Amino acid sequence: MIENKRLTFAIISHPDAGKTTMTEKLLLFGGAIHAAGAVKSGKTARKTVSDFMEMEKNRGISISTSVMGFDYRDRKVNILDTPGHADFSEDTYRTLTAVDSTLMVIDSVKGVEERTRKLCEICRMRKTPIITFVNKFDREGKEPVELLDEIEAELNVTVCPMSWPVGQGKAFKGVYSLYEKRLILFSAHGVQEDQDVFEISDLNSDELNQRIGDSEAQKLREELDLITQVYPQFDHDLYISGELTPVFFGSAINNFGIRELLDCFVDIAPGPGEFEAEDRTVRPDEKPFTGFVFKIHANLDPRHRDRIAFMRIVSGEFEKNHTYTHVRTGKGFKTANPTAFMAQSRNVVDTAVPGDIIGLHDTGTFKIGDTLTEGEKIQFKGIPSFAPQIFRTVVNKDPLKDKQFKKGLDQLAEEGVVQIFTKVVTKQKLIGVVGALQLDVIQHRLLNEYKATCIFEPVDFQTACWIHAPEKAVLDKFVAENQNKIALDVRGQLIYLAPSRWMLDRTVEDYAGLKYYFTSDLK
Ligand code: G4P
Repeated sequence: MIENKRLTFAIISHPDAGKTTMTEKLLLFGGAIHAAGAVKSGKTARKTVSDFMEMEKNRGISISTSVMGFDYRDRKVNILDTPGHADFSEDTYRTLTAVDSTLMVIDSVKGVEERTRKLCEICRMRKTPIITFVNKFDREGKEPVELLDEIEAELNVTVCPMSWPVGQGKAFKGVYSLYEKRLILFSAHGVQEDQDVFEISDLNSDELNQRIGDSEAQKLREELDLITQVYPQFDHDLYISGELTPVFFGSAINNFGIRELLDCFVDIAPGPGEFEAEDRTVRPDEKPFTGFVFKIHANLDPRHRDRIAFMRIVSGEFEKNHTYTHVRTGKGFKTANPTAFMAQSRNVVDTAVPGDIIGLHDTGTFKIGDTLTEGEKIQFKGIPSFAPQIFRTVVNKDPLKDKQFKKGLDQLAEEGVVQIFTKVVTKQKLIGVVGALQLDVIQHRLLNEYKATCIFEPVDFQTACWIHAPEKAVLDKFVAENQNKIALDVRGQLIYLAPSRWMLDRTVEDYAGLKYYFTSDLK
């Protein structure tokens, strides 16, 4: 079998830490783009909804930004974009199910922030390897040791510095790469030249003093002496299991530290891995093709209601014009124009292999989590929905548009924009979202794509969890005694709705043997 050279990963960070800048610099190094400014910032945090919708519209047109592929040192690197705004975090979580590793960007001034904490938690849960880049070292920020301690303590991961900064902020002189045993001098000209790199394997050599001055050289020796005693050596197995993160320091905007990061990434990051399915584990080297949909992107052009389903190839080889089994419906699916994504373009591909992400033109066939195979009934695990934080009833304001309204809502649910629940007693339908901005998106899209006007009405629930019990009697008792707060999700799984987290904890505690979960895959 030919060696698979894919490296498929996502960049995770808190908004403003430098994810967009980092993506752009990686693409520049990979030769995939030639000028800065080509990657659109996901800075929706400061924007209004209409800005957001406008941005999504642009993204609909240049959909290739969802996956950015480039070739580097004999490898095909795929970066999967993740939305920056917390209200769309579900989309990010699901994207993390389709990658083999992640790159975490941390702002050296702010340290570990809330979104990073949450995303890192998901990586740890899924045992996804993480490489850390501490960004903005050209600014006066936290001390490197303080940052390492913070990462270790807050993210519950062992840190292993791969480079070490010389100075910081205005006094930032560069980094010493412990990984490659070289000194790389910083200049804010934004281009890293070979003349800025010095091979210094012996830290006692005079060259170090010549390059950064006596006092800095002395300080660097002492610090390196200390960190090699305090922090563990790089251990590839621990990195692969997500327990250890190699850490780099640099400044993405100044193109500094990116090349070292990318070179190390290509050396150590894992290629396409195994995926857990309901009945067995699927290995990438298995011959039959399997793949799953982790994201559906609507083309927001109102004249075309078609969508693109993003599929991660898990095993085998996907071939154009071949008919595969759509496992959920049991029907055949044939695609005439599967798309692969490069930095700024998309091309029709004839074949795709594990690690590749392909876009399938979809006219309503796919739901998130759907699988295509050569016939085997495989359902991959861990492509969950997340318990919503916001619930509403949604009312159609125009009775003549009832059909469009229902169709629109169903399609948005299939795309993962909204979750729909049906209360078991009243059969009343509720919608649930993770972030408030999603409600605006639903309203906007129902109107623009389906010509349906809707309003939302508040309900008393603020949190929810999926419930399950090994003993049917326990579950039946719980359902019978809490009928008004029980609903079914689209898969027919029971969900318990509560007015507050406190109430939820109290109620569930009262029922021994009942298990509750905040993701729909009941883990
Ligand atoms: P995000 O995608 O994670 O939200 O972050 P993004 O790359 O958009 O970067 C957020 C801000 O941080 C941007 O500034 C960017 O220029 C700046 N930045 C990124 N890397 C560095 C770095 O290494 N050093 C310094 N000093 N700044 C950095 P902005 O003013 O918000 O936007 P812009 O006007 O520069 O685009």
